[in-house]
Amino acid sequence: MISVNGLSKHYRIASREPGLTGAVKGLFSREYTIKRAVDDISFRIEQGEMVGYIGANGAGKSTTIKMLCGILTPSSGEVTVNGLVPYRDRKRNASQIGAVFGQRSQLFWDIAVRESYELLKHIYEIPEREFKETIAMFAEVLQLEPLMGMAARQLSLGQKMRCELAAAFLHNPSIVYLDEPTIGLDVAVKARIREFIKEMNRLRETTVILTTHDMQDIEEICKRILIIDEGKVLYDGSIQSIKDRFGHKRVVHFELEAEGGFAFELPEPLIGLAESAVGEEGRVSLTFSNQAVTAADVISAMMQSYRVRDLTIADPTIESIVQELYERGI
Ligand SMILES: Nc1ncnc2c1ncn2[C@@H]1O[C@H](COP(=O)(O)OP(=O)(O)O)[C@@H](O)[C@H]1O
Ligand SMILES: [Mg+2]
Repeated sequence: MISVNGLSKHYRIASREPGLTGAVKGLFSREYTIKRAVDDISFRIEQGEMVGYIGANGAGKSTTIKMLCGILTPSSGEVTVNGLVPYRDRKRNASQIGAVFGQRSQLFWDIAVRESYELLKHIYEIPEREFKETIAMFAEVLQLEPLMGMAARQLSLGQKMRCELAAAFLHNPSIVYLDEPTIGLDVAVKARIREFIKEMNRLRETTVILTTHDMQDIEEICKRILIIDEGKVLYDGSIQSIKDRFGHKRVVHFELEAEGGFAFELPEPLIGLAESAVGEEGRVSLTFSNQAVTAADVISAMMQSYRVRDLTIADPTIESIVQELYERGI
C-alpha cells in the first residue's frame, strides 16, 4: 500500500544575525542552513496494517506524513501510495486517503456537523445510499447523534475529535493518517476512538498510520511501530520484538506486613542490583534488570527479610522502552 525508498526532505532555513543589523543585512545577502527533517528513510506498509509512527518532537513525523499525503514534495527518494506518486497525483491521491491533523479541522466551523458531512459527500462523490449507511454506523459507534445539529465551534475537544474521525473515514479511504488523534482527551473518549479505529480496520481493511505520544494508543491499536529520530528510522518492527529485545526492566510490587511502623531497607543480596520505591502501608516496588538478577531471586531475597503479603510482577511497558531508546539510542 505504501512504499518509501530513500526518502528525504531538507528544509532551507534562512539564518540571520540577531537584531536590526542582522535584519538589514538579511535583505541583501542570505545565508542558509539545511535542516534534514527526513533523512533517507525506507519502509513498506501492506494493506490493512496499522502502524505507529513515533518519535520525539521534531523527529520528522509530520514531514513524512505530509510527503505521503502529497502536501510536500520530497527533496530526494521515492514514495508511492497505492500505486500513486502523491505529490504528482495530488488529487487522485487525496480521494483515497483520509487524515486527521492535530490542529487542522475538516469540519466547517460555522455550520452544523451534519452539513459538513453533506459537503464532504459531494466533494468525495459518495453515493447517497452508502453515505446514509456510513453515517448511521459512525453515529452509533462514535455516539454522534446529539452532535449532528451543532456547529463545529460549539463542540468540546472530545466531541470535535469524534466528529473529525468520522469525517476522515467517511469516503471509505484506503489509508488514513492520524496525527495525535487522542491528545488532550479523557479516558472514555480515547477508548471510544480506539475502538472506532480498530473497527474500521476490521470491517474495511483500512491501512492506518498513527502518530501519537500516547503509548497506550500504540499498544492497543498497532502491532508494528516505526521509531524515528532526527529524520532517521531507529526501529521498524513489531511491538512484541522490541519488548523482547529491549524490555529488560522488571518491576515487582510488594505488599509487606508493616504493623507498628516500617522502615524499608533493601535486602543485602539485592544491593546494587535493584532500586526501591517505598509507598504507603508497606508497599514497596523494586525495579531491576532481568539480565542482572532474576525475578525469582528478587522475590526470594525479599521473602527472607520481610513477611510478604502479596506481590505482582509488572511487564515492561512500551512507554518505558521507547523512553530508554530515545535517551540511549538503539
Ligand atoms: N516548513 C519548515 N521549514 C523549516 N523547518 C521545518 C519546517 N517544518 C518542519 N521543520 C523542521 O523539521 C524538523 C521535523 O519537523 P516535523 O516533521 O514537524 O517533526 P515532528 O512532527 O516529528 O514533531 C523539525 O526540526 C522542524 O523544526
Ligand atoms: Mg508533528
